[in-house]
Amino acid sequence: MQAHYIICGQVLSFTGSPFEVEQPDQAVQIYEAVAIGAAHDAGEDTGKRTGQDHTGSHAARTVLALGTRADLQAAFPQATLVDHGNHLILAGFVDAHVHYPQTAIIASWGKRLIDWLNSYTFPEEIRFADRAYADDVAQRYLDLTRAHGTTTMCSYCTIHPHSVDAFFTAAQARGQRVVAGKTCMDRNAPDGLRDTVQSAYDDSAALIDRWHGVDRLSYAITPRFSPTSTPDQLAAMGALWSAHPDCLMQTHLSEQTDEIAWVKSLFPDARDYLDTYEQFGLLGEKAVYGHAIHLEARERDRLREVGAALVHCPTSNTFIGSGLFDMAGLIAQGQRVGLATDTGGGSSFSMLRTMAAAYELGQLRGTPLHAAELLWLATQGSARALRLDGVIGNIAVGMEADLVVLDLASTPAIAQRSARADDIWDAAFATIMMGDDRAVVETWINGQRD
Ligand code: GUN
Ligand code: ZN
Repeated sequence: MQAHYIICGQVLSFTGSPFEVEQPDQAVQIYEAVAIGAAHDAGEDTGKRTGQDHTGSHAARTVLALGTRADLQAAFPQATLVDHGNHLILAGFVDAHVHYPQTAIIASWGKRLIDWLNSYTFPEEIRFADRAYADDVAQRYLDLTRAHGTTTMCSYCTIHPHSVDAFFTAAQARGQRVVAGKTCMDRNAPDGLRDTVQSAYDDSAALIDRWHGVDRLSYAITPRFSPTSTPDQLAAMGALWSAHPDCLMQTHLSEQTDEIAWVKSLFPDARDYLDTYEQFGLLGEKAVYGHAIHLEARERDRLREVGAALVHCPTSNTFIGSGLFDMAGLIAQGQRVGLATDTGGGSSFSMLRTMAAAYELGQLRGTPLHAAELLWLATQGSARALRLDGVIGNIAVGMEADLVVLDLASTPAIAQRSARADDIWDAAFATIMMGDDRAVVETWINGQRD
């Protein structure tokens, strides 16, 4: 066991979920320092397929120990010390629902969901027929998100299989843990943006074979949403998922009332929106549903029974005008909830801005979230939604070494507010509400800093 770095600051480690204790801060421990390094010797067989690794070593970097600076220096005398003073150090942000191909059309004006898809999203996604364009956007998206402290995301790609290759190739070169899948659509999409029942199945299966479980990459089977897939395509996706049950399955659910009415007209026999997935084998514990705002009682009960994940995308929900996600009610019901930007329906790449929007939507429903709850949702909560909570989303021994270092006084406005802060939560809350990429001092991916 060899520690490469000891990083000092205010190191935030969750001991549990802040939603499951009396006071949210009881689920958190703050340490002076964290040691990260390789738990295995370089080159040791980890039992996983690996490609070229930018670290020059195949060993995963993990959290080795947490404690005082003095204790960790005594335990790992060879390690390089990185002193971040009072900065807050937490697990890298996990963005549980994004569309990397929408990077260039983020903040497009004036449309609600279906018009927004037709006016902005689909024309942009058609451009991904060009592999070089897909490579360019994948690199730009990963640069932008790293600058915002996001280390893992679960992304939709486009219908083009090479849009998945572009994304995984770029993430792999950065040593990054990402989840992604080819978006499947065989109706209600323009020419150049439809696949077929057979090609969606075959292309997705080939991509699973090529990428799933390679290095830190994993595949999510991705029917876009039930309006853009025929029943036959949804059934094919269900069959593919049952052949690859260790993959996630991601799609959209109950985002806008117009969309729900459209789904009901397309699937007149379905009991509700969720049933358009359930009847085709697209409901399960590894399902990840984006938005899930306007849920009916049966849908909520089924989602909880199977342990599927719901992903809250607050900047998108306000930007596209979708509605108010019932965070408090769903969490109280025991639902698995993650947090996401929904780039580019969401209006920011920043998980700080996303936490701020989640707070504001909570206020509109009379249920404000504590800073510890917001930070948990943006890290462990999203990792839990992606079934990666044993691996990423917390600074704890054995977890992969993806970290973000936040300056809690990154602008004059935040600095003067945090100077008044009573405690670390008050200080962190000012950065959550007012911060952006200027607050991100460093982002560490797999034990390497940018
Ligand atoms: N529903 C189906 N596709 C999309 C998309 O790309 N973004 C959002 N926000 N909702 C969708
Ligand atoms: Zn989406």
